[in-house]
Amino acid sequence: MLRLERVSKTYRVGAFARTSLKAVRDVSFELRPGEVVSLIGESGSGKSTIGRMILRLTQPTDGRITFEGTDITGLRGRGLKEYYRHAQGVFQDPFSTYNPIFRADRVFAMIRQSYFPNVRDAEWRDRVADAISSVNLNPDLVLGKYPHQLSGGQLQRLLVARALLLDIKLLVADEIISMLDASTRIDVLNLLADLKERGLAVLFITHDLSLGNYLSDQTVILRKGAVVERGTTEKVFGDPRHPYTRTLLASVPRLGTRWEDLPVPETEGHECDAPPEEVDDDHFVACFDRVHHGRKSESV
Ligand SMILES: Nc1ncnc2c1ncn2[C@@H]1O[C@H](COP(=O)(O)OP(=O)(O)OP(=O)(O)O)[C@@H](O)[C@H]1O
Ligand SMILES: [Mg+2]
Repeated sequence: MLRLERVSKTYRVGAFARTSLKAVRDVSFELRPGEVVSLIGESGSGKSTIGRMILRLTQPTDGRITFEGTDITGLRGRGLKEYYRHAQGVFQDPFSTYNPIFRADRVFAMIRQSYFPNVRDAEWRDRVADAISSVNLNPDLVLGKYPHQLSGGQLQRLLVARALLLDIKLLVADEIISMLDASTRIDVLNLLADLKERGLAVLFITHDLSLGNYLSDQTVILRKGAVVERGTTEKVFGDPRHPYTRTLLASVPRLGTRWEDLPVPETEGHECDAPPEEVDDDHFVACFDRVHHGRKSESV
């Protein structure tokens, strides 16, 4: 359904944009209907940049992103609007999506204005109430409130409800769990599981490995903008091949470990730019030969 083919993004940074920063390098993966794909990587590894390119909030420097066969990077006007009917995002900081001076449900009115101008008032109210109920909120308690009167989790769920009013097929969820308290987390996780049941594809961006493992069918491990390993979650978590993935997984049981505290994986010195190759059905590893060779020589 959604396919990234060798997508790269270079940002121009610094004074007079003289320096370039390769935020995303040669990234390829695919999302199928009803599938949750976790995009996992440390801070700055390019996760949000990938999400933003998929949502057409920024353009790739190179490569192709196709949705149901159409290259979305060239979409404009009507074509782009149609794409947004099917693809929506929810971000880490839900407050940024809402204008604090308007009631939170204005986000629904905006959808109506652009996509459903001919739906009558009563019918629209029913649809909104349905969407809000399906994200486990009580419409009577949330409608009419201002953003600051709602919790982060409620605002995020309202954004999912907004997406549900459209004919949504793909949801990009960027770190939507991180600012929530434990009980709300479970709620949002259950909601994502529901969406998956409805046949939606979800790109779940996180730096929390255990959440990724719990929720996803496929896992993509990013490091410095490049995919080091990807495949079915079962294989990536059950049979990690890249030393970086192994180091990450080894640190999971230690709760509260920050990425900066992790030991530097033994991939240093084995850097290579080659994209991941298939080492097993649905299991891709970058620089497998070198990594493998590195391990062999180590055991001698
Ligand atoms: N608009 C921009 N202009 C210049 N550099 C940017 C821009 N957006 C992101 N970057 C840089 O690109 C790299 C990847 O950023 P990105 O936000 O995609 O990382 P991330 O994996 O989402 O990190 P986090 O876990 O902290 O959210 C970082 O080095 C970041 O500083
Ligand atoms: Mg991010």
